[in-house]
Amino acid sequence: MKRRKFIKNSSLTTAGIAATPFIASCKNDVKPIEATATATQVKPIVVCTWDFKNASAKAWEVLSIGGSALDAVEQGVRVEEADITNETVGKGGRPDRDGNVTLDACIMDAAGNCGSVVYLKNIAHPVSVARKVMEETPHIILAGEGAEKFAYEQGFKKENLLTESTRKQYQEWLKTSEYETIINIENHDTIGMLAIDENGDLSGACTTSGMAYKFGGRVGDSPIIGAGLFVDNEVGAATATGVGEEVIRTVGSFLIVELMRQGKSPQEACEEGVKRIMKKNEGRKDFQIGFLAINKNGETGSYCVHPGFTYRKYDNSGHENIPSNSFYS
Ligand code: GLY
Repeated sequence: MKRRKFIKNSSLTTAGIAATPFIASCKNDVKPIEATATATQVKPIVVCTWDFKNASAKAWEVLSIGGSALDAVEQGVRVEEADITNETVGKGGRPDRDGNVTLDACIMDAAGNCGSVVYLKNIAHPVSVARKVMEETPHIILAGEGAEKFAYEQGFKKENLLTESTRKQYQEWLKTSEYETIINIENHDTIGMLAIDENGDLSGACTTSGMAYKFGGRVGDSPIIGAGLFVDNEVGAATATGVGEEVIRTVGSFLIVELMRQGKSPQEACEEGVKRIMKKNEGRKDFQIGFLAINKNGETGSYCVHPGFTYRKYDNSGHENIPSNSFYS
């Protein structure tokens, strides 16, 4: 059954859930967020990990003419997927240790619908394939050959994703085959994007080529709903960048949204998310994680392990690149 039909058949249930105030589920010992934001109170806003100015500008273009948050995040992150000078996302992403460029992406909308592709080769826009998975199939995740076959069926074109630059870097890497994380140095700067449209609805997308020179078959946090991205239209949304294994271990983005549900600000929730990771990695300093969150009121926050992570914010008051506070100074 196609997801659209499934959604149609379930529309009464979905409407019922959406109408339920989330505040009702909060325990007495936590301070719930006041669910005062209404469609007209929340102005459009988009945020994304790192200083991806062109991507956030594209998303803002969609939002500022009344486009949906879902269209905004898809169109926004596609800018980085297409940019071959960005060697961590989409076409031009660095390959795995076998020389294959394999892409991971996901997308999630205000109704909680989501789609994801993992280990996708030869397709430059995994986020759009993920959206097709969400809208045209009864599934959430398609992997590898199945995802690629589905993409061709949906009209996506086969492309060589390895560029001259990444091919040369890979050949250089083969000389030592050393695998180590370099903090903030582009072997893990995923783009995660979160938006609220003029109706007050939230969506998010996340896309990456993953860790450079990863094991063949490795999948990170970015396409895992709850880890690299989570959206709850009653509460807020979160996304992650950095070493995906650590984000998966804490189901980071879901954790942050749930912390916001319990009353934490986006900033407090991101700080707690990083602290949970550091508790499992006491004394370890060789990796970076950055979390970014937005709540239903349009308030944003971010936090990271090491200095250097920034996020780009675009709303009616303009746009800026905001540095994150970090666990280590
Ligand atoms: N956060 C991207 C990855 O670990 O693949």
